[in-house]
Amino acid sequence: MILAIETSCDDTCSAVVEPEGRRAFSNVVHTQTEHARYGGVVPEVASRAHLERLDGVVRRSLSEACISLEEVSSVAVTVRPGLIGALLVGVAAAKGLAYARRLPLIPVNHLEGHVAAAYLTDPGLEPPFVALIASGGHTALYSVGRDHKMRLLGETLDDAAGEALDKGARMLGLGFPGGPEISKAARDGDRGRYDFPVGLKGRDNLDFSFSGLKTSLLYKLKAINEEQLAEELPHLAAGYESAVVEALSRKLIRAVDLQDAPTVVVAGGVAANTLLRRTLEERCVKTGTILVVPPPELCTDNAAMIGAAAASARALPYPEYLSLNARSV
Ligand code: KG4
Ligand code: ZN
Repeated sequence: MILAIETSCDDTCSAVVEPEGRRAFSNVVHTQTEHARYGGVVPEVASRAHLERLDGVVRRSLSEACISLEEVSSVAVTVRPGLIGALLVGVAAAKGLAYARRLPLIPVNHLEGHVAAAYLTDPGLEPPFVALIASGGHTALYSVGRDHKMRLLGETLDDAAGEALDKGARMLGLGFPGGPEISKAARDGDRGRYDFPVGLKGRDNLDFSFSGLKTSLLYKLKAINEEQLAEELPHLAAGYESAVVEALSRKLIRAVDLQDAPTVVVAGGVAANTLLRRTLEERCVKTGTILVVPPPELCTDNAAMIGAAAASARALPYPEYLSLNARSV
C-alpha cells in the first residue's frame, strides 16, 4: 500500500492507494477555509494550517482505508511545484513516517499527480495521450509518452486558467475560489451578451493567454455602476467563463489534431468546471477522441492522485531520501 501526502497549496491531503496506482482505498482532503476572507491563498497561513492538520488527516486516511501504518509499504509525497512552506510540511512528515519504518519514499511532481488522477478514473488507461492541466497555478498541454514522461506542448504566457477565474471573480465581487463562484453566478446568464476576447485564438500554437480577458472585464466594469452590475452580473460571469472554456477547448482540440492523439486527459481544478466538461465531451464525440476527465473531487488537489503518480515514479530507498528537499518550481 502507498501512503500519499499532498500539501502543495491550501488543501491538506492524505490517501491510501494500491501499489499499481489504479485504485484508492481512501482520499482525505481538508480544504483550508482560512484564506476565503483574503480572496486568495496566504502562504504562511497555509503552512501553519498544514502543520496543525496533517497528522489528523493522515490518521483518518489510514483508518478509512482500514489499514494500520504497519501495512504501508511506501510513502509518496508532493515535492514540487507549489508554495515552499506548504510543501515542506508534507515532505518533512513523509520523511519522518518513511524513516521510522525504514520504508522507501517516492517524490512526486504535483502536475504529474494531476494527470495521474486519470488512472484512478479509467484503470485501463495507458499512455500515449494528450493531457491538459488547468489549475490555479498552471495551465499547460502535454504529450504523455509510453514511458509516462510528459513533454510540454504549450502553456500559458501569463495567468493560469484558474487564476484568471479567481481574479475575475474578485473583480465581480464574488468569493474565493473563483471558478465555482463564477459558474454559479453564470447559471442564468446570456453567454453572448458581452464580447470577451479568447486569448491567442487565431495563433497557430498551443499556448494560452488570459491577461486580455481580465483587462476586458475591467473595462466593462468601469463602464457600469453598482446597480447595473447587480443586473449584469450573470451575463458578465457567463461571458467570462465561456471565454476561458473556449480558450482551453480550442487549444486542446488543436493539440489532439497535431499529435493525432486517440485519447485526451483533462485534469486540475478547472477540469471540475461543468461547462468545460460538457464542451469537451461534445467536441471529442465529433473528432472520435476518447476523453478521460476525473470526477470533480479528483480534479482539485488531493493525495490519491499523488499515490497514483507514485506507482510509475522512482522510489528512493531508505535512507537515501533524508537529504530530499521541496522546490517551489
Ligand atoms: O488544482 P487545484 O485544486 O489547485 C492548484 O493546483 O492550483 O485548482 C484550483 C483552481 C482554482 O483557481 C479554482 O478557482 C479552480 O481550480 N476551480 C474551478 C472549479 N473548481 C475549482 N474552476 C472552474 N470551475 C470549477 N468548478
Ligand atoms: Zn493542483
